[in-house]
Amino acid sequence: MSASETVQTLAHLSDVHLPLVGFTPRTWRFKRLTGYINWQRKRRHVHRPETSEGLLADLSKRRPDHVAVTGDLVNLGLPAELEQARRWLERVGPPDHVSVVPGNHDIYVPFGHDPGLARWQAYMRSDAGPPGPCEGRPASTPDLAMGTFPYLRIRGRLALIGLCSAAPMPPFIAAGRAGEAQLTRLRQLLDETRRDGFVRVVMIHHPPIPGLASASKALRDADALGRVLAEHGAELVLHGHMHSATLVWWPSQHGSVPILGVPSASVTVQHDHEPLARYHWLRFTHTPSGPRIELEARGLCKPGGPVREITRFLLAPGTSYPPTVPLSEPTDAAEMSAQAVVSGKS
Ligand SMILES: [Fe+2]
Repeated sequence: MSASETVQTLAHLSDVHLPLVGFTPRTWRFKRLTGYINWQRKRRHVHRPETSEGLLADLSKRRPDHVAVTGDLVNLGLPAELEQARRWLERVGPPDHVSVVPGNHDIYVPFGHDPGLARWQAYMRSDAGPPGPCEGRPASTPDLAMGTFPYLRIRGRLALIGLCSAAPMPPFIAAGRAGEAQLTRLRQLLDETRRDGFVRVVMIHHPPIPGLASASKALRDADALGRVLAEHGAELVLHGHMHSATLVWWPSQHGSVPILGVPSASVTVQHDHEPLARYHWLRFTHTPSGPRIELEARGLCKPGGPVREITRFLLAPGTSYPPTVPLSEPTDAAEMSAQAVVSGKS
């Protein structure tokens, strides 16, 4: 590394799905009942807290400059779950060290009079500027979408931009929406931070472009967000939601944009085609000619195994995640690359 180069590290984890707590008659809604049954029958065996704790311990030991958490910390958006997730976030790091965007499971139904995601607001706010409309008030969904998002945090040479794609949806629908107000502000933020020479990292729960999710799980205005990215560019977009490892290059007027999806941070046993728990370690080397971004995937290679390096490569236009290998492949090589399955369900 030359004297003119600097390095920053960013850890990305998503879809932790902490244990479901606080489902009571008072919090009952039909959609929550469907989610509760799904959790009791399947998901509680798949998303284990001891697994996400292992990833968190590994991540903490490496002392990243910043941590990005792209949603689905909880399951049914219950007040007790959101409280539990706030305590979990405090263990990940202080609010100026950790940036969060919500997922569809975090805003599962309207919050009504409950403070909802105001509990996490310190992790989802801009560095400066006038307070958003939801400051000091219960964070209803419109407030969250229209008021505090997108937020902008400057960390070294990185401009971290957080978008909210979560909104209450009918039962069995895991779709999302950004909304025109957020996209208008996003255009400004992308232009301003590019002009000022920052490396722009956009964080969102749902895949931000068309074609990466089925209709029931997709961002409903992915066409519009895809156009914003094509016209204004970004150096990196991070998302979760699909519980899979994906890297797609999206053409823009300012170079190809890597759209990077990380698997769930708590998957403990083989389930559908979902890789076992994983997080991404991103190393930015800022050079006079632009950023060089190296991706290291760390997580479980087999159920109950240690957290270790799964793969590592440079994000250069055209690169893709290692090819898919069937999870049942009985070789060591397969064990190392089996986690790169590029499909899955949330
Ligand atoms: Fe999700």
